[in-house]
Amino acid sequence: MENQCKKVLFVCLGNICRSPIGEAVFQHLIEQRGLQDKWATDSAATGPWHIGKSPDSRARSTLKKHGIEYNGKARLLTRDDFNTFDFIFGMDENNISDIKAEAPRNSKAEIMLLGEFDPQGERIIRDPYYDSGAAGFEKCLQQCMRCCTEFLDRYN
Ligand code: 4NP
Repeated sequence: MENQCKKVLFVCLGNICRSPIGEAVFQHLIEQRGLQDKWATDSAATGPWHIGKSPDSRARSTLKKHGIEYNGKARLLTRDDFNTFDFIFGMDENNISDIKAEAPRNSKAEIMLLGEFDPQGERIIRDPYYDSGAAGFEKCLQQCMRCCTEFLDRYN
């Protein structure tokens, strides 16, 4: 990761559905806009169950359908993340409470719901993991696309 660039971390419960989609969409937008030197991104889990795993197959197929690449593996959120990253985005209110519970008192990172940036005002990116199909993953990608676009428009 570049030292001077702004760093954004996407966090959800398992790091196999929503946060890898958020990270992949953000990276895709950075590349489209030629901003690779200005922004860096990663994603992490608050729960330990899927550490080291690739995203859920429905997350991978949804990204692929949109021509978005992703090669990351799930990892746990660490205390260091709070001083490495400028922004830590959670997907729902449970993520935000779990992230805040881990945060050291002098955390540099701003902790926010990614959905705060949705121009359509849909604040919560719900967990599609227990759904029977992939529709929730497509909806998650659309929400991440709107929010990351708006975030970059405002902060870049
Ligand atoms: P995510 O979805 O938080 O969007 O990655 C989940 C994935 C796995 C589990 C829960 C949510 N799980 O309980 O294993």
